[in-house]
Amino acid sequence: MSLNDNERFAWGGAGGYIVARSGWRGHGRKPTEIAMTKAWTKSDWRRKPRIQMPDYPDQAALRAVEAQLAKFPPLVFAGEARKLRRALGEVAAGRAFLLQGGDCAESFAEFSADNIRDTFKVMLQMAIVLTWGAKVPVVKVGRMAGQFAKPRSAPTEVVNGVELPSYRGDIINGFDFTAEARVPDPARMLQAYTQAAASLNLLRAFSTGGYADIHRVQSWISSFTEEEEARRYREIALRIQDAMDFMAAAGINSDTAVSLATVDFYTSHEALLLEYEEALCRVDSTTGLPVAGSGHMIWIGDRTRQPDGAHVEFCRGVQNPIGLKCGPTTTAEDLKVLMARLNPANEPGRLTLIARFGAGKVGDHLPRLIRAVREEGAEVVWSCDPMHGNTIKSSTGYKTRPFDSVLREVREFFAIHKAEGTIPGGVHFEMTGKDVTECTGGVRAVTDEDLSDRYHTACDPRLNASQALELAFLVAEELQDRRANGRAREARA
Ligand code: PEP
Ligand code: CO
Repeated sequence: MSLNDNERFAWGGAGGYIVARSGWRGHGRKPTEIAMTKAWTKSDWRRKPRIQMPDYPDQAALRAVEAQLAKFPPLVFAGEARKLRRALGEVAAGRAFLLQGGDCAESFAEFSADNIRDTFKVMLQMAIVLTWGAKVPVVKVGRMAGQFAKPRSAPTEVVNGVELPSYRGDIINGFDFTAEARVPDPARMLQAYTQAAASLNLLRAFSTGGYADIHRVQSWISSFTEEEEARRYREIALRIQDAMDFMAAAGINSDTAVSLATVDFYTSHEALLLEYEEALCRVDSTTGLPVAGSGHMIWIGDRTRQPDGAHVEFCRGVQNPIGLKCGPTTTAEDLKVLMARLNPANEPGRLTLIARFGAGKVGDHLPRLIRAVREEGAEVVWSCDPMHGNTIKSSTGYKTRPFDSVLREVREFFAIHKAEGTIPGGVHFEMTGKDVTECTGGVRAVTDEDLSDRYHTACDPRLNASQALELAFLVAEELQDRRANGRAREARA
């Protein structure tokens, strides 16, 4: 990040940083005052109320793991995080669109090159379809290489009368329903780090080594739409094919335009396990500012967004782009404080608000939060997570999400942004490249009875490859309409 005119950075006491800004256009307490009250250090979160984090019984083992992780190389680099921030700044301005997706929870057992490849592959296909709809670049961010820790609705679970601590993700404890597995084990952080490093290594190779070539991705899209059930999307696939044939005829191909052969792909996860985040926090040698080395973008979950809580405290001090989940209980007052605390310089691309209200409820909540953003003059990216507000129990007992509810929430999100004159910047999905049966519906019509066939998620139900791509086609249609409406408005003006 280059220091711009309204940002000043200085060393604070105790190795901390003071971030000051001027020119805040918002109301209420000036972010400058908040940021200036105290220097930030990467361990300050320890003095704040912490929830959803484990109590490690073996504190000595925890300290040893933290010390080891602190010596390891960061997984991502500050320059990459800044590049993503700039890209998200374009999203905030409506000149790009954000696609964020991947597992609800990555797991040690499901770790394989094939799984990573398949999720990457479907995200690339979705990105091309969305690019076609939006006619702007799509910023691709995986819930990958670090998405291990899970907030839970209850600290314990009961099965057949036996009560054990809840599973909190493979980075914390084990999935098996035994007392031993459920003990938080700090050594799991080392395994998570290793898996994240290997995942990133593969993603970097896929991004630049020829696998992501647009022509190849386009042929995968065509194979999907050639299927009889997906014929409704054939027209769009043909139009994408036409655009590419035109470019090829004009001499624009992977040899002449490197952007057709490679992609920028970023990683993200919920910054829930703060011992892990702190241990991977580094000082960027270019700017002297702290950066989370665990992933390019980190986000704060709906359960841990207390303005004075530990998670907000950690995230406010690192320069990565930050996501903030906004649910039905997010108040306008809290959102204003959070925006000031997390983005005191009001820099576009720093803060992404990820709305997750549930189908049928977007109208109750999004307008009031859009108003709060407007009142503060805040620069944010608005993204839609249509997964977490739409989880239900199926008739066969499985936790699932109906494709139609997911789509409905996305459509409500677009409709409200249209009515408010604001920008629907992106989408956030729990999805996999595998042919799982976890969400119902879609063109291949997964039914409640099918759910038991291939229900593999370690946590929430994910869209499978075909459902994810289909959703991209439907979002592309929304984006298309938006553009058409925009053009009509311009023509009238
Ligand atoms: C998640 O994204 O996996 C998650 C737990 O979401 P939320 O915090 O919005 O419930
Ligand atoms: Co989830």
